[in-house]
Amino acid sequence: MAVLLVVFVVAFWLCVCTALLRWNEVRYRKKGLPPGTMGWPVFGETTEFLKQGPNFMKNQRARYGKFFKSHILGCPTIVSMDPELNRFILLNEGKGLVPGYPQSMLDILGNCNIAAVHGSTHKYMRGALLSLISPTMIKDQLLPKIDEFMKSHLSNWDGKTINIQEKTKEMALLSSLKQIAGMESGPVCEAFKPEFYKLVLGTLSLPIDLPGTNYRRGFQARKNIISILRQVIEERRASPKAQHDMLGCLLRIEDSRHKLSDEEIIDHIITILYSGYETVSTTSMMAVKYLHDHPRALQELREEHLNIRERKGPEEPIDWNDYKSMRFTRAVIFETARLATIVNGVLRKTTREMELNGFVIPKDWRIYVYTREINYDPFLYPDPLIFNPWRWLDKSLESQKYFMIFGGGSRLCPGKELGIAEISTFLHYFVTRYRWEDVGGDKILKFPRVEAPNGLHIRVLSY
Ligand code: HEM
Repeated sequence: MAVLLVVFVVAFWLCVCTALLRWNEVRYRKKGLPPGTMGWPVFGETTEFLKQGPNFMKNQRARYGKFFKSHILGCPTIVSMDPELNRFILLNEGKGLVPGYPQSMLDILGNCNIAAVHGSTHKYMRGALLSLISPTMIKDQLLPKIDEFMKSHLSNWDGKTINIQEKTKEMALLSSLKQIAGMESGPVCEAFKPEFYKLVLGTLSLPIDLPGTNYRRGFQARKNIISILRQVIEERRASPKAQHDMLGCLLRIEDSRHKLSDEEIIDHIITILYSGYETVSTTSMMAVKYLHDHPRALQELREEHLNIRERKGPEEPIDWNDYKSMRFTRAVIFETARLATIVNGVLRKTTREMELNGFVIPKDWRIYVYTREINYDPFLYPDPLIFNPWRWLDKSLESQKYFMIFGGGSRLCPGKELGIAEISTFLHYFVTRYRWEDVGGDKILKFPRVEAPNGLHIRVLSY
């Protein structure tokens, strides 16, 4: 009797599950949609996607081709793994393929955040941002600040075991705060740090506004960050001293067409902090890891930096010409970003029904422009799983048309050069001052983002 009951319960559950899966497939069975599966109602295939990561994508591609439908992270989604099509999507925002980042991210980063605006508003906001982080600004104003920051951030590490993940995250945030508003250490920075970490976690959470959720905490952190920044802006306005940092530039814009409101200035600052935070810190951490594992690359990198130091006095900062001469360092950074895949892809959404690749994509569907696989294409990168920075010494690799580590089209990363300058300066002081060994036992996850869940510990000794 008990056996019969168990069989009945299992059979009943199987029927319910099959019916639910079938219902969800039928719900999305519109003429013209690409092939693929939609998984469970509401949850879709999110669990499989997060659990299996890149293998989920590869399996679906094997079954349905490079352009398939799915339901992940709460939305019906088209996944595009086709390099040519990915390029087309990134180049055609004007045809209704706008950024499609999750609601929690938009809520917490603000309405004036660059990912939330399109068309002419995006153009003018991007223009304002570019003027703050252009090569001229890096050369004249930002590089001296970055140099000063790195010198002090990387002091007193000798003889210590450090968590390089924590140090690079702190570095990315504090270096940006120094460039933005001259903040470096002290009570304002100390108050800012925990709020910013909560804000980042909130943007990666489900938008559930209940006490104790990361979303609620992230939203509260946004409010606290706004009040800190408002106070900094008020103090700036009250001071007669002209400040040569990003905030100083934003406050000096007088042209009434381009004059920014305080809300816009604050969202610009949050955008700069947020966009450069995980990208710069994770690339720096992974560069340390790969260099440790590849002594020949470390030796060549160190020689490049020791040669620069030889030309200079002990405390003399590195300048634009030094930065431009760091050819191998740049190659190490590109190879790190490629092999670790710091960015798996970018999200877009359709603003109207449209035809893509011979299929009809409904309005408001998300498109996951999945660029990860391009990084391991053996035609572009022979022996793609090998860390080989020398391949980037051929400049044409950086300008090949499927190079999407920094995105593409009208959303191409405006912080690319700034990010590379920061990581290069970090590596400069790290390899000329220290050698290091892996403590061992730390795990690095590669998906959905690159992170060491328990930190990445290294023992540092002076060089
Ligand atoms: C290794 C470092 C970096 C990597 C790999 C990287 C990667 C990317 C990628 C892939 C995009 C395209 C996003 C999309 O199309 O939706 C992007 C956009 C962006 N990045 Fe970066 N980034 C880096 C550093 C930085 C830094 C340091 C900043 C700081 C200023 C920054 C600011 C931005 C902004 C504001 C956008 C949005 C541009 C727009 O929507 O017009 N990035 N980045």
